[in-house]
Amino acid sequence: MTDFKQYHTQVVADTQTLLTQSLKHYPDLPCDLLPAMEYALLGQGKRMRPLLICLVGQVLEIPKEKLTPLMVAIECIHAYSLVHDDLPDMDNDDLRRGMPTCHIQYSPGTAILVGDALQSLAFEHLAQHPQLSADEKVSLIHILAKAAGYHGMCGGQAIDLHFTDQDIDLETLTQLHRLKTGALLVACVDMVMALVPTLPIEHRTLFKTFSRSLGLAFQVQDDILDITSDSDTLGKPSGSDQDLNKSTFPALLGLQASQEYLSTLYSQALQSSDQLPYNTAPLNEFAAFLVKRNH
Ligand code: IPE
Ligand code: IPE
Ligand code: MG
Ligand code: MG
Ligand code: MG
Repeated sequence: MTDFKQYHTQVVADTQTLLTQSLKHYPDLPCDLLPAMEYALLGQGKRMRPLLICLVGQVLEIPKEKLTPLMVAIECIHAYSLVHDDLPDMDNDDLRRGMPTCHIQYSPGTAILVGDALQSLAFEHLAQHPQLSADEKVSLIHILAKAAGYHGMCGGQAIDLHFTDQDIDLETLTQLHRLKTGALLVACVDMVMALVPTLPIEHRTLFKTFSRSLGLAFQVQDDILDITSDSDTLGKPSGSDQDLNKSTFPALLGLQASQEYLSTLYSQALQSSDQLPYNTAPLNEFAAFLVKRNH
């Protein structure tokens, strides 16, 4: 890969096209559900999860047509998680991707239904995709359902709510972050690996350590940015975690120790990818981008 930035820009554009197409056949209903879904799904996201899918897919030489349903499905789940995360009964935030949050632009009721419908769309999209075999569909749906639900994002969000305004220990905070954010990033890599049944177990283990380290790193960096960045750069309110007295790495360990921990997780990710017998330079660039991003 000659230029990571250029590759990322292309993935952002491709993802936008794919997401737009995924809603194209939805008929109009006499309500604002479809425009609200488009609003939530088509905003200016970094598309990190589709990017990770493309990069791992490229390393494992999987044809792009097989990756596109994974890109759409993961981004639908992610967008749904953001819409619900911002709701008044969750983080009560009013800005997302530089725009009013879905419940501000529409209504809390509509935003709840947007999340529900985007979650369904993710699985609908995987289930009907012509490029995937029946076995592949079952594996992908299983991986994504586990990562989105109790064993993953929803479980993590519930722990997050439970420990808002409460003391937390490092082990529980790590579990919270692994679940609420790490699980979907790990699922990106797991879904791609599910398309390569012959992938040796040793390689699977290394990919898994890579994705687990980066999944946790992603949320540690998100916590750090909540303090060190501003709302204009983030496109979401900075200082939101402190205002809500959220359990975060900087709140528990302090900013400097959190930054050091982020570096440790980055090194762990690189250690794993460097042992893989492929050209993993693009994966390492992804890891660097993830920990150095400013929004
Ligand atoms: C924000 O995710 C929420 C977390 C899981 C930390 P992103 O930082 O990927 O948000 P977008 O998609 O780029 O807006
Ligand atoms: C949310 O974590 C992770 C999700 C599952 C959406 P945050 O609450 O820190 O995410 P932001 O900062 O609002 O994007
Ligand atoms: Mg939250
Ligand atoms: Mg939030
Ligand atoms: Mg945050």
